Amino acid sequence: MSTTLVRADSRADLVSALAAHGGRVGFVPTMGALHDGHLALIHRARAEVGTSGAVVVSIFVNPTQFAPGEDLDRYPRTLEADLAACAEAGADIVFTPAVAEMYPAGLDGGVTVDPGALGSVLEGSSRPTHFRGVLTVVAKLFGLVRPDVAVFGQKDYQQLALIRRMAAELCLGVEVVGVETVREPDGLALSSRNRFLDADQRREAVVLSRALFAAREDAARGAAAALGAARAQLRTSHVVDLDYLEITGTDLGPAPQSGEARMLVAARVGSTRLIDNIALTLGTQGEN
Ligand code: PAF
Repeated sequence: MSTTLVRADSRADLVSALAAHGGRVGFVPTMGALHDGHLALIHRARAEVGTSGAVVVSIFVNPTQFAPGEDLDRYPRTLEADLAACAEAGADIVFTPAVAEMYPAGLDGGVTVDPGALGSVLEGSSRPTHFRGVLTVVAKLFGLVRPDVAVFGQKDYQQLALIRRMAAELCLGVEVVGVETVREPDGLALSSRNRFLDADQRREAVVLSRALFAAREDAARGAAAALGAARAQLRTSHVVDLDYLEITGTDLGPAPQSGEARMLVAARVGSTRLIDNIALTLGTQGEN
């Protein structure tokens, strides 16, 4: 599908573009470098609001979610291709603010959103300031776009869980929808950072999804078996440097003895940090 896409760079242009549309507003916040995973989010937003609603995509590489020394400067910026992809996917409005538009009071010292305890485990233990930056910018974007529904990928599972909590606990009046991770044919989760991988690293990176799939296969024998299966896969690569591999509850709380759970993995492949996760159905520990 291709529509007439309106680009808004400023808050005022965004307000005018939204006023020109009736109906429900579906919102897909992104940092650009769009791939098929993002397009699935745009399609889902359209399905949520229908043809009478407006689908808004934001493209903003948010400085406050990158710590000093992380990859803010090299984060891919592919605006022209992103705009074409948004038009092709049927978005109505693309919001492309500059940093000063999102942070008029500057990057330091303003009001921020505290993610609470869930913000300091898993990704948060390696990136302690990350989720404060994510929640702060998403709260600002929700305030500007005023969406009825906002769509995020399950690949960033902890981010999705925190945004859901923020929307519910701060009574933001937006429904948060999570969409299944889109994968390459060999299983690697699509990510804007995959383009940093050289050919060898790309071949090795698939071990992350292989580990998750192996865990899913063995989950009926319990959490220890699932972890063992995943670790065995991860040990096959000398290039993938594991940060964490954990099983949690679906809400990222403690893993249940049995039933629905989540396995999450993060690793460095060269200088690129990759994350992935999968749903597991745990059987009774030690069952054969
Ligand atoms: O998932 C992302 O691309 C970003 O973390 C988000 C949600 C757009 C906030 O900057």
